[in-house]
Amino acid sequence: MAAALIGGLIARGVAADRFAVADPAEAARAQLAQRFGVATHADGRDAVRDADVVVLAVKPQVMRVVAQGLGDAVRDALVVTIAAGIRLADLARWLGGHARLVRVMPNTPALVQAGISGAYAAPDVGAADRETVDAILGATGPVVWVDAEARIDAVTAVSGSGPAYVFYLLEAMQAAGVAQGLTPDAARCLSIETVRGAARLAAAAEDPFDVLRARVTSKGGTTEAAIATLDARGVKAALVDAIEAAAARAAELGDALGRG
Ligand SMILES: NC(=O)c1ccc[n+]([C@@H]2O[C@H](COP(=O)([O-])OP(=O)(O)OC[C@H]3O[C@@H](n4cnc5c(N)ncnc54)[C@H](OP(=O)(O)O)[C@@H]3O)[C@@H](O)[C@H]2O)c1
Repeated sequence: MAAALIGGLIARGVAADRFAVADPAEAARAQLAQRFGVATHADGRDAVRDADVVVLAVKPQVMRVVAQGLGDAVRDALVVTIAAGIRLADLARWLGGHARLVRVMPNTPALVQAGISGAYAAPDVGAADRETVDAILGATGPVVWVDAEARIDAVTAVSGSGPAYVFYLLEAMQAAGVAQGLTPDAARCLSIETVRGAARLAAAAEDPFDVLRARVTSKGGTTEAAIATLDARGVKAALVDAIEAAAARAAELGDALGRG
C-alpha cells in the first residue's frame, strides 16, 4: 500500500526527495530506494523527524509497537493511518496523546491507481489537513469523507473488502462461461470487460443502479431470465448480509486491536 501511494505521488510529479520511508527489512529499503529514488531508514524515528505528514502503513498487528516507538518523534505532524481496524483513540494513546490524526481505509485497486478510500478526521483536524489527505490518497483514487469513525467499518465492508466480492462474481461468470463451452481465456476476457464496462457506464450515468439494470432487461428476454434466477436464490439479500457480516467483523477487530 505504501509503495502504491509513493508510486502514485511520484507519477503525479511529487519529487522523490520529499519522501522519507522507514522499513525494518533491508531488502525492502533497497527495493524502495532503487524503484523510487526515495530516502530510506531502518528506524521510523529517523524517517519522521522533519516530516509535515506521517503515513502509517504497517500491518494492524504491529501498529501499537510502531506507534509507541515513534512517540514524540512525530512532534505536531499530521498523522495518517491506513491500517484496517486501528481506531484513532488507540493510536492517539500509543503516540503519547497526539490529536492531529486521520484514519483512511483504502482498497487494493490502489495498486493500479484505481482505488477508492474512505476517510475520517479527528475533531482537531482542519480543512487544510483534509486537503493534504485528499492530495496524498488522490494519487491512488478518490477519497470519500465520513463524519463518524464508526462509519469506517461500513467503508471497510463496502469498498475495502469490496474487490473480493467483484472477484467472486468474476469467478462465477468465468466458470459459467466455461461450462457453456467458452475457453477459460475467452470467458475471463468477457467477464472482466463486462465488469469494467458496466462500472464505467454506471459512473458516467446519473441514474440509480436499478434503472441501469432495467435498461438491459427486456421483457421475456435473456437478462430477465437471469435476474429472475438471482432473485429466486436471494442473491441480493445474501450480498447485503455478507456486507453486514464484514462490518460486524471490522468492529470486532477494532475492539481486539485496540487492547493494550
Ligand atoms: N492490502 C489492502 O487491501 C489494504 C486495504 C486497506 C488498508 N490496508 C492496510 O494497509 C496497511 C498495509 O498493508 P499492506 O498490504 O501494504 O501490508 P504490507 O505489504 O505487509 O506492508 C507493510 C509494510 O510495513 C513494514 N513494516 C513492518 N514493521 C515496520 C516498522 N516497525 N516500521 C516501518 N515499517 C514496518 C513491513 O515490513 P516487513 O514486510 O519487513 O514486515 C511492510 O513492508 C495495513 O495496515 C492494512 O490493514 C490494506
